[in-house]
Amino acid sequence: MGCRIAVFGTGYLGATHSACMAELGHEVVGVDVDTAKLATLAAGEAPFFEPGLNDVLKANVDAGRLRFTSSYEEAAEFADVHFIGVATPQKRGELAADLTYVDSVVTRLAPLLTRPAVIYGKSTVPVGSAARLSEMAQHLAPIGDAVELAWNPEFLREGFAVHDTLHPDRIVLGIDLERRGRAEEVARELYRDIVGEGVPFLVTDRETAELVKTAANAFLATKISFINAMAEVCEAAGADVSELADAIGYDARIGRRFLNAGIGFGGGCLPKDIRAFMARAGELGANQALTFLREVDSINMRGRTRMMEMTREVAGGSLIGTRVAVLGAAFKPDSDDIRDSPALNIAGQIQLQGASVTVFDPKAINNSRTLFPTLNYASDVRDACDGADVTLVLTEWEEFQRLEPAYLDPIVRCQRIIDGRNCLDQAKWRNAGWTYRGVGRR
Ligand code: UDX
Repeated sequence: MGCRIAVFGTGYLGATHSACMAELGHEVVGVDVDTAKLATLAAGEAPFFEPGLNDVLKANVDAGRLRFTSSYEEAAEFADVHFIGVATPQKRGELAADLTYVDSVVTRLAPLLTRPAVIYGKSTVPVGSAARLSEMAQHLAPIGDAVELAWNPEFLREGFAVHDTLHPDRIVLGIDLERRGRAEEVARELYRDIVGEGVPFLVTDRETAELVKTAANAFLATKISFINAMAEVCEAAGADVSELADAIGYDARIGRRFLNAGIGFGGGCLPKDIRAFMARAGELGANQALTFLREVDSINMRGRTRMMEMTREVAGGSLIGTRVAVLGAAFKPDSDDIRDSPALNIAGQIQLQGASVTVFDPKAINNSRTLFPTLNYASDVRDACDGADVTLVLTEWEEFQRLEPAYLDPIVRCQRIIDGRNCLDQAKWRNAGWTYRGVGRR
């Protein structure tokens, strides 16, 4: 018999977590304030594109293990275990994270808790949040300190969300070590099948658990900016960053993964998480420790401007009146997520320099149109590249990697391609008579 769980927030994190906990045999209610989203989910469909998620949602809704509601009362009545999976975006005009949504889950839920309960935070939060939220919950709950709050960070990648949730590299749990309650025992029960497969289960204090998540994201961001800095040097020296990455990647201490040079990282996590991390370190008086992340951020943002400059150069020195085809809008392939997407940022910058930019993405067009209504959008590659003076590949969708020069030859005006993700076979394009430019490539 599974546990009775409520998951607050039904975004990438919450919707996937709800569906996967039901898949593990628990009874789950997903809670959100957005009723349109809830209706979509109740029909067994994700309100965003995530490979494999619809199948898990549908199977578990149909099996009666998964439902959705906007009622906190219903969730509190039903569940003994609560997960916080709401967003922690960047505050407007500041580097710090905005904890409004996380706080609001606790202030709404805690007063409804009339029997012992465990709340697990999954959202990425500044270190110290769990202890603060725990006090808040115990103060507001009628059962007082019979409500426990622990931190159980989530490491899922978009595009692999279901796999990463059901087969994580590790499970990290931060508990109040002074007064060990039931949080560890309940978590072992929740994740029994996963832990049974040999996945490491690490129990630590709440602060360490919070920091594990931000440190992991800071490391990944640093790895990407490191290789992009190498790309800048390679360009200056006439060397090739892809070959360099392959060669240093064979050293197991370095590793080849996350060493793909290109237009840099975006998305709803890495950019805002490294900024929130710097802000929090500053508040704690440890700001010097993380000043290097400012450089990581600058290298990353510079990648976007450099791509705009490269396009200008390839276009012959001016973007005014140039037709530019942009293939890719999502921040990475197999996602329709455009939050802080380098691709869209670059498309916007190029348009602002006087070019006419037409964007195509297999999944992210609707989201892009809402955010950047002034760009032109195409319904396929052919439509986007029609009469193009320069074609840019900015998200490495498989569809773009498979493109053949001969297919585009009769469509474009000029055979010039810029590979913002170093994902194309440069020899193939050059041999077909195209001008090819990658990032940090010969
Ligand atoms: C990230 C973390 O990987 C995940 O563990 C955490 O839970 C949330 O943040 P995600 O935002 O889904 O996941 O994307 P990720 O796959 O990490 O890619 C982030 C960005 O880095 C993308 O824009 C991607 O294109 C870029 N990237 C990634 C590179 O530019 N080069 C690389 O080698 C790898």
